[in-house]
Amino acid sequence: MMITLALSKGRIFEETLPLLQAAGITVQDDPDTSRKLILATDHPEVRLLVVRATDVPTYVQYGGADMGITGKDTLLEHCSTGSGAGLYQPLDLQIAKCRISVAVRSDFDYASAVQKGSRLTVATKYVAISREFFASKGVHVDLIKLYGSMELAPLVGMADAIVDLVSTGNTLKANNLVEVEHIMDISSKLVVSQSALKLKQAPIRRIMDAFAQASKPYHAIAE
Ligand code: PRP
Repeated sequence: MMITLALSKGRIFEETLPLLQAAGITVQDDPDTSRKLILATDHPEVRLLVVRATDVPTYVQYGGADMGITGKDTLLEHCSTGSGAGLYQPLDLQIAKCRISVAVRSDFDYASAVQKGSRLTVATKYVAISREFFASKGVHVDLIKLYGSMELAPLVGMADAIVDLVSTGNTLKANNLVEVEHIMDISSKLVVSQSALKLKQAPIRRIMDAFAQASKPYHAIAE
């Protein structure tokens, strides 16, 4: 019985490798050098799909994959459109940790802009998270949806602020932006298709249990 796991290249992929190892699974291809989108493992019944981060929940939901690994940021945005049905989120894997923050140009007086009750123009890929955050603060915002390189928007005068992921803070610094609000901590979660879980209960549970065991030590260290 084949188990298919969808995930994205980069940090999530790299930090998933030790979890797979803990489940006794070694990936045979390197997505950075191979152009293959289906990666075999040394386990005859486990394969990986390399997809765009924002597409992971979609693959799991529509049966393209049995399970996936995706950031809370992506999941929140995906589920905000009402399309989270059939997705079971059993485990925070404590990997690919970062935060989602509001950042502005270092010469922009965010505190007084927010206090004055003026409208703030915010550029972001995270429209749902941003809308909810500013609504909870009672700040009126005009949101501009972007798909990447959000840092540019305040630099070219298109937005007052951005909402983006921050890890080391180097990208903000390099673009003369400063973090002014920490919206939430982000890490990646395991998502499982509820229908796959019914049909392939035993092998999925084995992987889930191994991931749970392997991600616990990270959890303990983080706390
Ligand atoms: C994220 C984010 C920032 C950067 C922050 O982009 O959008 O640009 O990382 O990291 P730092 O604080 O360590 O500099 P990512 O590399 O995930 O690619 P993306 O632009 O496709 O989201």
